[in-house]
Parts: sequence; C-alpha cells; structure tokens
Amino acid sequence: METAGDLVITEKFDALALMTINRPKALNALDQLTLQQLDAAVSAIEADPQIKVAIITGSGEKAFVAGGDIGVMQPLDPLGARRIAVDVQQLLNKIEYGSTVYIAAINGYALGGGCELALACDIRIAADSAQLGQPEVNLGIIPGWGGTQRLPRLVGSSMAKQLMFTGERISAARAAQIGLVSEVVPATGLLARARELAQIIAAKPKMALQLIKEAVNNGREMDMQRAFAYEADLFGLCFATADQKEGMLAFLEKRQPQWRDQ
Ligand code: CAA
Repeated sequence: METAGDLVITEKFDALALMTINRPKALNALDQLTLQQLDAAVSAIEADPQIKVAIITGSGEKAFVAGGDIGVMQPLDPLGARRIAVDVQQLLNKIEYGSTVYIAAINGYALGGGCELALACDIRIAADSAQLGQPEVNLGIIPGWGGTQRLPRLVGSSMAKQLMFTGERISAARAAQIGLVSEVVPATGLLARARELAQIIAAKPKMALQLIKEAVNNGREMDMQRAFAYEADLFGLCFATADQKEGMLAFLEKRQPQWRDQ
C-alpha cells in the first residue's frame, strides 16, 4: 500500500540528494499524490543550502516515469486539464530554474510527462535499456508539461515534431544521437555513473554552478546581443564571491582551492 511520503523518496548524502519516484506498479506514472510529493521534495531540496546536486530516478528496472497518470487525466474537463498542466509546469520550472543542479538518471521508460520531467533537468543520462518518447498523440492530446517547448529547443523543431507527431518511442542510443540525453551507460551502472557525475559537480563552487545554470537557461531566451550582455553581468557577479578570489588565488599559489560556496 502506497502512503503519503512513500511515492518520492529523497536520500541525502552530504551535498548530493537522490530522489526516487516510487510507484513501480504503475511504472512510476505521476498521479496527484506523487506530483504533490515530488513538488514537496523539490522544494525541500531547494531550501537546503547544503545540497548542490540532485539525481532524479525511477524505482524498479522498467521505468523512469511512464508519464502522467492516464487514469487520473481521462475524466478531466478542460479547466481541470489546464490546471494540472499549469501546476506541473510550475513544478518543472522549479527544477529548471532552481539553484540545484538536477541530473535525470533515466533507468527505463521516460514517456510523456516522464520525458518532460527529464527535459526540465540540467543533465540527462540514460541506461542502455531506456526508451524515451512523447506518445501523447496516441491519447488524443499534446504534451502539456513543457514538452512542446523544451523538446524543440533541445533537439530542434523537425526532430521534436517527428517525435510528437509519431508518438514513437526511441532507444537511449538514438536519444543520445539527437542530443536528448548526454550519455548512455549499461543499466547496472547507471546510478553509479549518475553519482560519480554528481560528485564531480558537487565538488565545484556553488555560486559558479548556479550562475552557469542561470546564464544558459535565461540567456537561451534572449537575442545574442542581450545574451552576451547578460553573460558579462553574471561574469562580473562572480567577482563578488569569496570563491572567485579563492579559486584564482589557489591557482596562483599552486594549491587546491578551499571552496566556501559563497
Ligand atoms: N498512467 C497510468 N498508468 C500507467 C501508465 C500511465 N502513464 N503507464 C503505465 N501504467 C500502468 C499500466 O496501466 C499497468 O497497470 P496495471 O498493471 O494495473 O494494468 C502498469 O502500469 C504496467 O503497465 P503495462 O502493463 O502497460 O506495461 P507494459 O510493459 O506492457 O508497457 C508501456 C509499458 C509501454 C510504458 C505502457 O505501460 C504504456 O504505453 N504506458 C503509457 C505511456 C504513455 O502514454 N505516457 C504518456 C501519458 S500522457 C502524459 O504524460 C501527458 C502529459 O504531457 C503529462
């Protein structure tokens, strides 16, 4: 029996958090309670100053997340469906625009809302057994949790439309070819690789990580001239941090930097 608090499990290891979506009997499909718990888990991570990197994965061997829960959505009226879309878009924006680095460790099916959850993360790596796709068209709907916007920005309109028009599922290897995931690893090594990557990133100074994320995510929506000015502003802001002084001094003194994450 699933109870509140069990559907998204967060484990903390110093600066890393591992979030596991835990509804394996429904292939981790996101129903209202799971979404509420995911929202609470993301808010808790964002509020924890110690956490620098969070990994999101799915429980079991079959699925990352097989989508929004179709049983929940089927009877919705237009306003109810719009409400869910807006609420989940806000949740995924918390991930995309949050101050933590999020890594999606795609351990199986990442379909519909599952693919959209992965798209909101900063980095996506996949097990070689994973399958990804936006099959909403087969249900008479469109992706509504950011997919029609994030997917074309990531893989280009032609490929994104092909995936959304056909609803086809693609392999992890194909997803890597089109830039939808950045790495494919054997399924048994997926979590180890995600943690290795997370540890490398968590060893970096937090403000620089945050400003890289902001520069990429916000700059992407600007024309190039504005984006360059924005980058220069954020570059300047780095020089207000203790870690910039320390990082450069450590280089000049030929020693390892002692980051203060300030
Ligand atoms: N919602 C609700 N339940 C789901 C689900 C989903 N998205 N995906 C899987 N499940 C449930 C199944 O109903 C089944 O439950 P029961 O055992 O109670 O019957 C259980 O998970 C196991 O699934 P299958 O028996 O179907 O497993 P399979 O190995 O034969 O197939 C699959 C796996 C290909 C992923 C198939 O389950 C499938 O096609 N799932 C739906 C995928 C999909 O269409 N996702 C998009 C949803 S819409 C969306 O996400 C819109 C949006 O933008 C938010």
